[in-house]
Amino acid sequence: MSKTATLEINNEKYELPVMVGTENEVAIDISSLRTSTKGVITLDPGYKNTGSCESAITFLDGEKGILRYRGYAIEELADKADFLEVAYLLIFGELPNTEQLGKFQTDIKKHSVVDDDVKKIVDAFPKSAHPMGVLSSLTSALTAFNPSSVNVNSEEDMYNAIVRILGKFPVLVAWTMRKKMGLPLDYGDNSLGYVENVLKMMFKQPNEEYKLNPIVVNALDKLLILHADHEQNCSTSTVRITGSSHAGLFVSLAAGVSALWGPLHGGANQAVLEMLEAIKADGGDTKKFMAKAKDKDDPFRLMGFGHRVYKNFDPRAKIIKKAADEVLGDLGVEDPILDIAKGLEKEALEDTYFVDRKLYPNVDFYSGIIYRAMGIPVEMFTVMFALGRLPGWIAQWREMRLNKEPIGRPRQIYTGYTLRPFKTIDKR
Ligand code: CMC
Repeated sequence: MSKTATLEINNEKYELPVMVGTENEVAIDISSLRTSTKGVITLDPGYKNTGSCESAITFLDGEKGILRYRGYAIEELADKADFLEVAYLLIFGELPNTEQLGKFQTDIKKHSVVDDDVKKIVDAFPKSAHPMGVLSSLTSALTAFNPSSVNVNSEEDMYNAIVRILGKFPVLVAWTMRKKMGLPLDYGDNSLGYVENVLKMMFKQPNEEYKLNPIVVNALDKLLILHADHEQNCSTSTVRITGSSHAGLFVSLAAGVSALWGPLHGGANQAVLEMLEAIKADGGDTKKFMAKAKDKDDPFRLMGFGHRVYKNFDPRAKIIKKAADEVLGDLGVEDPILDIAKGLEKEALEDTYFVDRKLYPNVDFYSGIIYRAMGIPVEMFTVMFALGRLPGWIAQWREMRLNKEPIGRPRQIYTGYTLRPFKTIDKR
């Protein structure tokens, strides 16, 4: 691989350094382009060709369908690790040993109480509020209740902020759901593991014991692992860019929650279920919806299909599809929606429109079906995605701060009016 790339513009040649990552990904380093060319920039809407940072957290190869956290295959992690181990791995770079994991769990538990006054904020939201809006606001509000800013030069300070948010976020997740369901806002049970505790906080009825179902615990653990990081996606880039202004960890995460909400990103899991329900209500004619998805005059897209990076298959979707079959089987749930999903997938995989555009089922195509089988309301699906993505956002924020990245501030090509004289109101 040559060490430089040559750019010629206005009869001038510029040598730009070429950098190669550990997985042989190649990038032309244009960081000096504007200065050396006296004003030339690159234009890349949607950043399809732009690397925004160097990162050692997650590797994915969209062509080969590879996803690895810190070098470990997602398939192996989903099979052998639990969510907190994966969180530790993502954030600190190595799998924890027994002692490190024990301390991590204990420290997270120590911080699993949210100031009781936060309940007043939850109370003020209408029941109809979307849980993602509530979650984003509550995450942001944590800043007000924990105002001391993190000293990123102190490992201890950084660690404390991390265990604090890992402890409090599941409480906020549970409260967004309990608010929606009209249930009292409770705290967790520190005798339980992380995932068990989340489930109990979400589902416990005020008048009866909550019985944990190991199938549900396992399924949720796996889903959270599969969602835990995905390199520089929309919400993660949002967290990094928000944090690059040295805004605090909690507000950076709140910005990530907001970015995740959109139906083209994390909101797709809710959109998939709504789409499958609509197909069912319409008589189950998948062909009609396939035709809509292909019609350029129709804004409808087949939700849960396509990915910015994966162009052959989404490795997470493979694991989830299998898990959906197992969970529904184990729980004895017969869901006609699963049959519609399978039918739609089969048709799309044989359809030239989808094949030519390399559109495959993504992680969200099957996750909603599992969440539904667990009894999680559809509007909570993206909140569950946020719970899974939390360690990834934290890891990326930490890396960005430790690498001392500059404030994120893209340029633009201005296409508006050139200078024009002001018109007084009587002349407009
Ligand atoms: N249904 C129908 N057509 C589609 C779809 C779809 N789901 N996705 C892409 N296309 C078409 C698109 O119309 C375009 O066609 P043409 O070349 O004729 O104009 C072509 O495929 C390329 O699409 P694009 O929008 O340029 O691709 P992108 O890389 O910018 O978008 C995407 C990726 C995920 C936003 C898009 O595939 C999509 O909107 N999918 C549905 C929403 C979804 O499931 N999102 C979840 C993503 S995975 C979870 C996560 O990590 O957030």
